[in-house]
Amino acid sequence: MTVMTNIAGLGDTTKAFLAKQGKLLINGQWEDAASGETFEVIDPATEKVCARVAEGRREDIDRAVKAARAAFEGEWSRVGPADRERMLLKLADLVEQNAEELAQLESLNVGKLLMFARMIDVGSTAQYLRYMAGWATKIEGRTLDVSFHIPHVEWHAYTLRQPVGVCGQIVPWNFPMALACWKIAPALATGNTCVLKPAEQTPLTAIRLGELILEAGFPPGVVNIVTGFGETAGAALVSHPDVDKIAFTGSTQVGKMIGKAAGESMKRVSLELGGKSPMVVADDANLEFAIPGVANGIFFNQGEVCTAGTRLYVHDKVFDKVVDGLSTIAKGMKLGAGYDPSSQLGPLVSSEQMERVLGYIEKGKKEGGEVVTGGKRHGSKGYFVEPTVFTNVKPNDTIMREEIFGPVIIATRYKSEDDIVATANDTEYGLAASIWSSNVSFCHRMARRIKAGTVWVNCHGLVDPNLPFGGFKNSGIGRENGAAAIDLYTEQKTVLMMV
Ligand code: NAI
Ligand code: MG
Repeated sequence: MTVMTNIAGLGDTTKAFLAKQGKLLINGQWEDAASGETFEVIDPATEKVCARVAEGRREDIDRAVKAARAAFEGEWSRVGPADRERMLLKLADLVEQNAEELAQLESLNVGKLLMFARMIDVGSTAQYLRYMAGWATKIEGRTLDVSFHIPHVEWHAYTLRQPVGVCGQIVPWNFPMALACWKIAPALATGNTCVLKPAEQTPLTAIRLGELILEAGFPPGVVNIVTGFGETAGAALVSHPDVDKIAFTGSTQVGKMIGKAAGESMKRVSLELGGKSPMVVADDANLEFAIPGVANGIFFNQGEVCTAGTRLYVHDKVFDKVVDGLSTIAKGMKLGAGYDPSSQLGPLVSSEQMERVLGYIEKGKKEGGEVVTGGKRHGSKGYFVEPTVFTNVKPNDTIMREEIFGPVIIATRYKSEDDIVATANDTEYGLAASIWSSNVSFCHRMARRIKAGTVWVNCHGLVDPNLPFGGFKNSGIGRENGAAAIDLYTEQKTVLMMV
């Protein structure tokens, strides 16, 4: 299919970027894949091809890892913390200077609302880069006392924090650029080099980011970007013997495979995986905030969010009111392309994702769930799914247990605090949860009792560069962001001297 770049709502620089074929960034150069193969990028609102990019495979990953290794051992190892900080700050400025183009690319490629792409995917990414830039100059070890007693001898013991090495970083399609920066920024702040593998559905902003990385002055080979598919390029990165660490965000299924492979080769690994996050609305919640709050907790980014609040538990006394309010919001949402400013909910990212979500809706109905609103595909062009509210879903029904990753929420009544703790924790996942209540003691007790990496109170889904982020149970291993990210990207070395 030919590439269609003439899309209403997109600026000229965005169209010009779409018109040139995307390449691989290897050792500071833009290259075609060794095989010469390319693949299509689809606009999920129209199902039209909007760009074409190089399809990297094992050979390309190998070249990228070699470049990353050479940079790590060579030029990059001589770049000091202040210069790493300066380059990351420059990159943040460049992201801001190109904000509108980046937001349009992200909105087009993922299907997300342009407003959110501006605010979150681009705005918070610039903020994130600046936050991590600050860490470059604040990495420290410790001096430690030891207990040996030898006459006339003293001891000096200390720790060093050193970069892990070559980091293989595999990211998904829901927040392509933001998650690429969650991976790249702490790695660079701490002196590592990177091979980034964007999701096959959403390679565009990674390529544009690569251009900005070169413009920011990072030496060749420090960041390499190989667009391609998971089973080929992704798997080659995971199994590559010269990669020291894998950082992955995506499905629990692939995360488990990566964890296993990393265990075999003893690569460092951090995994940020799926979720089935509960939102608990107590009878004393301020419903004026809680109802739109939980609607946003599920429908933001079309529900394609690892922390999406898919299980809604509402106290018996306010259940009907909350479900009515939520359904009214869902019914009123205008579906349309993300880059159309009148849209309130965009398409899902791919036909595969739409089919997966529609399959879950069908399964939910078949197993006895009741659809209060939504429940169908919207239109026949574009991957739109109606915002959907289910009730009467049983604890062991498929849609109560598995991650749906779409605009589908299940509302259930609860009566007592002990019941709701057990129910909220009755899941293989533990990424996040939210509590909506005006009783501070209840909120604190729930925050302690719910098994999740993040608990929000009277809000849902907010992430900040300074707050550790990651999951309990099958939601992953390790914490990104904050000081925790510095631990992920450094090795601790102990030095003991007899003096
Ligand atoms: P996925 O886990 O297959 O893809 C995520 C990334 O992993 C992509 O870059 C992909 O190319 C790569 N990948 C896939 N297979 C690989 C392999 N064998 N080795 C190395 N890398 C590999 O996710 P997919 O198939 O796009 O979505 C399936 C489901 O995963 C979604 O419905 C959702 O439930 C979940 N998901 C969760 C995300 C999160 O933020 N935690 C993000 C995306 C998907
Ligand atoms: Mg997959």
